Amino acid sequence: MISTFAPGRVNLIGDHTDHTGGLVLPMAIHLGTTISGEREGGVVSLHSSIEPEPAVIPLDVDDPATLTPLWARYVAGVVAEQRPTIGFRGSVTTTLPVGAGLSSSAALEVALALALGFAGPPEALAHLTRRAEQRASGVPCGIMDQLTSAAGVAGHALRIDCTSLQITPVPLPEDLEVVVVDSGERRRLATSAYAERAAACQAAQAELGPLRSATLADVAGLDDPMIRQRARHVVTENVRVDQMAAALTAGDRSGMSEAMAASHASLRHDFAVSTPGLDDLVHRLIRLDGVIGARLTGAGFGGCVVAIVERNTPIPAGMTAWRVRPSAGAALVG
Ligand code: GLA
Repeated sequence: MISTFAPGRVNLIGDHTDHTGGLVLPMAIHLGTTISGEREGGVVSLHSSIEPEPAVIPLDVDDPATLTPLWARYVAGVVAEQRPTIGFRGSVTTTLPVGAGLSSSAALEVALALALGFAGPPEALAHLTRRAEQRASGVPCGIMDQLTSAAGVAGHALRIDCTSLQITPVPLPEDLEVVVVDSGERRRLATSAYAERAAACQAAQAELGPLRSATLADVAGLDDPMIRQRARHVVTENVRVDQMAAALTAGDRSGMSEAMAASHASLRHDFAVSTPGLDDLVHRLIRLDGVIGARLTGAGFGGCVVAIVERNTPIPAGMTAWRVRPSAGAALVG
């Protein structure tokens, strides 16, 4: 029997920067997905504890994005990218809320690639499963989610340079906690404006070269006001990632608070991926005693808010929240 576990992730800061090779500061979390079973037969056949229908995928599948049930697309994306020569029969269980913005799909992909026999460094696992996600969903996502799930470090967030893929673990202060709060708004990335936002960034890069090395003065020279706004978010968000990493390292509460507030405002105004529900949740959280900072996390358009709080800060009963621990990356567990 083979058993693998891959964590979900929450991004502390640095959203919509990975697809332009920018900086991000996510952490792998203790919630995640387990796959158990045997390598055997000529298909990948998985039952899920939270899905009514199984995923049954032939090893030569080549059209992941057209399959049903929907979750089978992610299974098929991995099979199509990995091309195992032996099938797999087993089951999937997860402690992640699905579709809430904690990378449940990345956790499924990474756990499955390991179950199918992937044996290579975390960067290669992330490349493979990112391609699987793109193939399954049609969304031109960056590498943050899959790389975080593959390369998490217990007790640390990861500062990732999405150009070089260099990872610098940033310890989370012992007296702080990360809390994820669900807005309850669900919106699948594929049906959202993710691709449109990524295309606006590409348009800016066609004029300026990599946004990673662009300055605000370069961005101010862009003609199209919408492209200018999107690019400004990326350039300023890259700077905030390093401000946040420095603030966490120093235990500097006001530095964390300012970076998170500025990130949320930029995602709302310049990148236009917030919603009234997310704005309201951030607003309510930052007024609570013990909450240091809060911002939307992940792609936006619904999903979750991440907050950094003093340890044991009570969260109001009406909020659906998870206290998440920074955890190690995916592994064979049996
Ligand atoms: C989604 C994508 C990531 C990243 C975030 C936004 O989670 O899968 O690659 O772009 O949105 O930061």
